[in-house]
Amino acid sequence: MADNKRPESMERITTPELAQAFIDEQLAALRAQIGDKKVLLALSGGVDSSVVAALLIKAVGKQLTCVHVNHGLLRKGEPEQVIEVFRNQMNANLIYVDAVDRFLDKLAGVAEPEQKRHIIGAEFIRVFEEEARKLDGIEFLAQGTIYPDILESGPVKAHHNVGGLPEDLQFELVEPLKFLFKDEVRVVGKALGLPDGMVYRQPFPGPGLGVRCVGAITRDRLEAVRESDAILREEFAKNGLAGKVWQYFTIVPDFKSTGITNGLRTYDWPVVIRAVNTVDAVTAEVAELDFKLVAHITERITHEVKGVNRVLWDVTPKPTGTIEWE
Ligand code: XMP
Repeated sequence: MADNKRPESMERITTPELAQAFIDEQLAALRAQIGDKKVLLALSGGVDSSVVAALLIKAVGKQLTCVHVNHGLLRKGEPEQVIEVFRNQMNANLIYVDAVDRFLDKLAGVAEPEQKRHIIGAEFIRVFEEEARKLDGIEFLAQGTIYPDILESGPVKAHHNVGGLPEDLQFELVEPLKFLFKDEVRVVGKALGLPDGMVYRQPFPGPGLGVRCVGAITRDRLEAVRESDAILREEFAKNGLAGKVWQYFTIVPDFKSTGITNGLRTYDWPVVIRAVNTVDAVTAEVAELDFKLVAHITERITHEVKGVNRVLWDVTPKPTGTIEWE
C-alpha cells in the first residue's frame, strides 16, 4: 500500500451532501476495482465494518460475502444483532462462525497484551482462510480500516493485518474508509441509510472484550466484563447517554480485593468503568456524569455481576491514558 496519506485536497466530511459525494465516488471506485468478482468482509458489527458492508452491499450486492466470527469476545447480544440486521434486514450473504472455544483455548494463560492481540489476529486470519477456501473465487478482502489506524503506531486493528494469509490466498485489499476519521464514518453511515442505532454505536476494538479482560483471559472474568458492560450500556441508554458519550465500557483487572456482602467477607474482582468523549480517538476526555447515576451503576454492577465486589471509575484523559487498558 503505497498511498497511505490522506490527500490534502480532501474536504472533511461533515454534511449529508459531502457524505453523498463520497459515497458516489466510492461506489464507482468499488465497482471499478471489484468488477464482477467476489469480495469477503470481516463483519464485526462495529461502526467501521458495518459502514463498509453497507457500501459494498450497495456497490456489488451478493458479490459480497460477510463473515461474522464469534470469537467469544463480543458484547452481550451482539452476534444475534449482526445476524438480524445484515442477514434478515439487509439481505446480505452472511456466514456466522462460532469460534468461541477455539479462541479461548488459544488465549488461555496468555497475559501479555500484544501477544493476546497477535493470537486473536492470527486466529482471525485462520478462520478467514478456512471460510475463503470454502467459497469459490474470492479475490478481494474488504476492511474497515480508518485513518487513525494508519496514523497511530502500534498494532491497532490487528485482525486487519492479512500478512499471514498463505501465498495462494493473497486477496487484494478493499479499504474504502481508510482516509476517514471516525466522525466522518458516522456521517457516511447515516447517509447510507443505516439505522441510527448502528451509526452512532460506539466503536469496539477488533480484539473485543479480550483487551478489557486484563492479563490472561479466564472465562469467569470474561463473563464479568460482558455482564458489567451490558449493565453499563443499558443504563447509558436509559439515561439518554448512548448517542452522547463516544465510548464507554468496563474493564476487569486481574487482581482481587476484599469486600463484604450480606455480612460475609468477599475476595473478588473490581470492575473499572471508562467513559470518554473524543472526535477522532487520538485524544480523549473523560465524560462528566451525574453522580447519582454513577452510584446507581456501581450498585447494579456490585449486586448483579458474579465475582465482583467493587467499582472503580477511570478519570484519566488520553493522554496520558489510552482509551483501552491494553
Ligand atoms: P486507544 O486505546 O489506543 O484506542 O486509545 C483508540 C481507539 O481504538 C480502539 N482500539 C482498537 N480497535 N483493535 C481495534 O479495532 C485494537 O486492537 C484496538 N485497540 C484500541 C479503541 O477502542 C478506541 O476506540
